[in-house]
Amino acid sequence: MNERIISVEGLSWDYRIGNVVVPALRGVDLEVHRGEFASVVGASGCGKSTLLYILGGMLRATKGSVWIDGFDMIGARSASRTRFLRKNLGFVFQRFNLISSLNVFDNLKIACKIAGSARGYKEKIDGMLRHVGIEHKARMKPLELSQGEQQRVAIARALIKEPKILLADEPTGNLDSENSEKILALFRTMNRDLGQTILMITHNRRLADMTDRTFEMKDGKILSNGTSPRQTR
Ligand SMILES: Nc1ncnc2c1ncn2[C@@H]1O[C@H](COP(=O)(O)OP(=O)(O)OP(=O)(O)O)[C@@H](O)[C@H]1O
Ligand SMILES: [Mg+2]
Repeated sequence: MNERIISVEGLSWDYRIGNVVVPALRGVDLEVHRGEFASVVGASGCGKSTLLYILGGMLRATKGSVWIDGFDMIGARSASRTRFLRKNLGFVFQRFNLISSLNVFDNLKIACKIAGSARGYKEKIDGMLRHVGIEHKARMKPLELSQGEQQRVAIARALIKEPKILLADEPTGNLDSENSEKILALFRTMNRDLGQTILMITHNRRLADMTDRTFEMKDGKILSNGTSPRQTR
């Protein structure tokens, strides 16, 4: 029990714009347990997305250690890291990153192919689009959809390969409360039925309180080892 699946220690990250250094992470320590649905809350600019980019392999950190399911994200070579991430990790971006020239269905199909699970994809994609409530928009292109609909496509794309770990950056940021709760319920189902570990960033305290554990982030650091709303209630 309580086996660590994400383990971060002393993680720092500076952005550089010319000669200007912007410190974004200043020694982050974080542990997430296997099968946990955890959340990160904190003010705008405190480093939440940067932390998720490093966990998701979009930024390569040099200061600190990051282990995901026994894999050394900092020490590993690029090719094996990419293979590991494709197989094990799903990512919902704050800014969606959908492919605008492809329709909704094909955006999900590409994700299936990249994950190497192209067999039986049609039924899987139809089912996932139903889950997020946009099955009727499968042939539309991302820019023909509302922000909230694009967000739901991005969520469907991350979930379609049934990743062991899901990292979600403000997945409900553009959704009304009814759709936010539907997405939360979907995450909870994936978490329970597939044993998926989820780390979700949110501005919404009420949603954070629905997760197993909430980490507070401030000025590039995680403040505590996480609070569990179920324990404190
Ligand atoms: N590409 C970049 N170049 C330079 N500085 C950046 C870049 N991206 C982020 N930063 C800076 O790094 C800090 C952390 O940014 P980050 O995007 O991680 O914050 P965040 O907590 O996700 O904020 P939000 O809640 O608004 O999404 C901020 O001060 C931001 O201005
Ligand atoms: Mg952010």
